[in-house]
Amino acid sequence: MTEGTPQRHKVLAVVNRKGGVAKTTTAINLAHGLSRKLMRRLAPEDVERVSDPSSIFHYHDRIYYLLGHVLLIDFDPQGHCARGLGIDPGRADIGEVLLEQQHLTEAVISADRSADGYPRPNLWLLPSSDNLESAKDILRLQTMSLTTKRNYGLLRILSDRLGLAIERFTFIIMDCPPALDAFTQAVYQFADAAIVPVKPALVICFKNFDTYGLPFIQMVCNVVDPFLSNLGYMQQAVLSGQHADNSAKIQ
Ligand SMILES: Nc1ncnc2c1ncn2[C@@H]1O[C@H](COP(=O)(O)OP(=O)(O)O)[C@@H](O)[C@H]1O
Ligand SMILES: [Mg+2]
Repeated sequence: MTEGTPQRHKVLAVVNRKGGVAKTTTAINLAHGLSRKLMRRLAPEDVERVSDPSSIFHYHDRIYYLLGHVLLIDFDPQGHCARGLGIDPGRADIGEVLLEQQHLTEAVISADRSADGYPRPNLWLLPSSDNLESAKDILRLQTMSLTTKRNYGLLRILSDRLGLAIERFTFIIMDCPPALDAFTQAVYQFADAAIVPVKPALVICFKNFDTYGLPFIQMVCNVVDPFLSNLGYMQQAVLSGQHADNSAKIQ
């Protein structure tokens, strides 16, 4: 983890209340892609000039400078992010972090697999497990007595327990579960922006995507959280023959 510069869209949530639309795949690839963008190849003669030697990474005969770090947070109790990255989460668990049974710095694990040929020196994971379900129940009970608007109590807990990550990481990508409960809504509110993967099969029925398809997706998202105005959508699993002109269009 390193100090990151504050920026507007730093915490991105990958959301859709439907399952199987590629949320986890998108979250993993986005986190991985961003972490690669934060690696700069260095010429050997430039190594001496680097102000922070701890940000230098050697891989085979190449040298990289790490401009920042990316954290992938798994908010789905299925815990597929660790499996997707091919890493063993061990005892690390977001449920325990939220219940203050584990410190964030213990629960954030490296996704680097340089030894297997997958160098990811600046990609980190906060893994999930079934524990998250019971943690959510406990947190809901704890916050029920609070007289707050919307999910403010849960949002405050998220900000409190995960706040350090916002300070230390350049980007945070959150893989959300296909749910619409109070906890998931608080996760949406914790984000600066949302990315909504959609299968073309869902929107292809709209003849004019911009006129009908996009407002449809916005309506779905506005139900999820009216405060989440920064919305991007991307078509996933596009089959040959289907039009994908709007794929990965970000508003
Ligand atoms: N672009 C794609 N094309 C084809 N299959 C995909 C694509 N993205 C994801 N999948 C597959 O779709 C399935 C569901 O993806 P997943 O990311 O787990 O969805 P979700 O997290 O929304 O439940 C997985 O088997 C995944 O490998
Ligand atoms: Mg998933």
